[in-house]
Amino acid sequence: MQKLKIEGGGRLSGELEIQGAKNSVLPLLSACVLVNGEVRLKRCPSLSDVYSAMRILSSLGCKCRRSAAGEVYIDTRGLESTAVSDSLMRQMRSSIIFLGALLGRAGECTLSFPGGCELGPRPIDLHLSALRQLGAKITEEHGALICRSANGLRGTQIDLSFPSVGATENIMLAAVCAKGETVISNAAREPEICDLADFLNLCGAKIRGAGSQRIVVEGVPRENLHGCEFEVMPDRIAAVTYMCAAAATGGEVSLHGARMGDIEAVVNLLRQAGCRICACGDGVCLAANGRLKAVRTVRTQPYPGFPTDAQAIVMACMAKARGTGIFVEEIFENRFRHVDELTRMGADIKTEGRVAVVSGVERLYGASVSAPDLRGGAALCVAAAAAEGVSEIANVELIDRGYESIEKALCALGAKAERE
Ligand code: UD1
Repeated sequence: MQKLKIEGGGRLSGELEIQGAKNSVLPLLSACVLVNGEVRLKRCPSLSDVYSAMRILSSLGCKCRRSAAGEVYIDTRGLESTAVSDSLMRQMRSSIIFLGALLGRAGECTLSFPGGCELGPRPIDLHLSALRQLGAKITEEHGALICRSANGLRGTQIDLSFPSVGATENIMLAAVCAKGETVISNAAREPEICDLADFLNLCGAKIRGAGSQRIVVEGVPRENLHGCEFEVMPDRIAAVTYMCAAAATGGEVSLHGARMGDIEAVVNLLRQAGCRICACGDGVCLAANGRLKAVRTVRTQPYPGFPTDAQAIVMACMAKARGTGIFVEEIFENRFRHVDELTRMGADIKTEGRVAVVSGVERLYGASVSAPDLRGGAALCVAAAAAEGVSEIANVELIDRGYESIEKALCALGAKAERE
């Protein structure tokens, strides 16, 4: 098992190129299933979840390869299977996104039911109910989801009771080649939804309204969907992670490729905490101004609200702030598992249900900790960089699901970090 060893205490400063977004590239890879031709995805991050999605595509009969320059080529013309094995489904929870794409491509698929994950139960009731409204027959047998659409999918009006990111993506994928028009109300508005719509439209789909609460998908014949070349959007949570690493250590960073518009909720909060942040050149720059000030309440919300994926990371950065702040987690049930680990490093954090009260301490200390999940692990890296002494972070594989090489990025900012 690999560990990260991080010696904290120095100011993290410098420049970084932001990797392609994990949460965009995964739906894009499944969207390739709908296309007749070759897709070339640029700025495709080298992440274990990306390799899991590529293994799924290969298992379906598609050709998939990644160049050293970070480009991925996918040719789905040879797709011959519509079943994703249980072991491949288990490697990555977002494999559920293949459901809409395979239904749209072949009118059928068999996937195993994705279980819970580190963040607690991850139901897919909204996905299933929406696909049924589009005309899919879905049955569950021995933990497998068997999906058919004998007469093809038909566009309809779908009102989501919650703007689920994955459900919105699955509906878009299934609706692209459905007969007629699909209208999604209360759709997720995350930037990754816009990236998926831009990609599909470039391939010949007709999707309007992505980024708003109402998305309209006008079905097109599948023969109309052709290959394309597309650049994956920059990863907004990776950008936030390195901003927080600089903010927590009193440093300065320039993040090339980061987009201010995608991270406004976090930028506003870090500004209130005393950081100077501006759009500069092709990215975003942050300069910390001594010890951060606590910010009263951080409440996670669907986009454009404060992202749940940034909650742990910002909490780590606020652990040393002056004053007391409150974090309320509204999206996932089980998303404070980093708190016990931060406490081992000297943080003063109390949780009750979905609320965490963070009383800033003057010093954090290096400790042996374990990444509880992807973003919780990134939060520990931020805390370790801001702590005195050496920290050892176990369970690095969870962090590798979303960061190309977090230790290399931290070293590029002047940290002493290595993998053992
Ligand atoms: C995506 C992101 C994840 C992020 C999350 C919220 C990807 C690959 N992952 O996950 O990093 O943390 O958005 O921004 O893009 N829910 C239901 N029923 C459903 C679907 C969701 O109850 O059918 C609930 C979930 O349990 C959760 C909430 O809705 O409490 C948000 O989930 P959702 O927006 O679907 O997140 P994901 O797409 O899984």
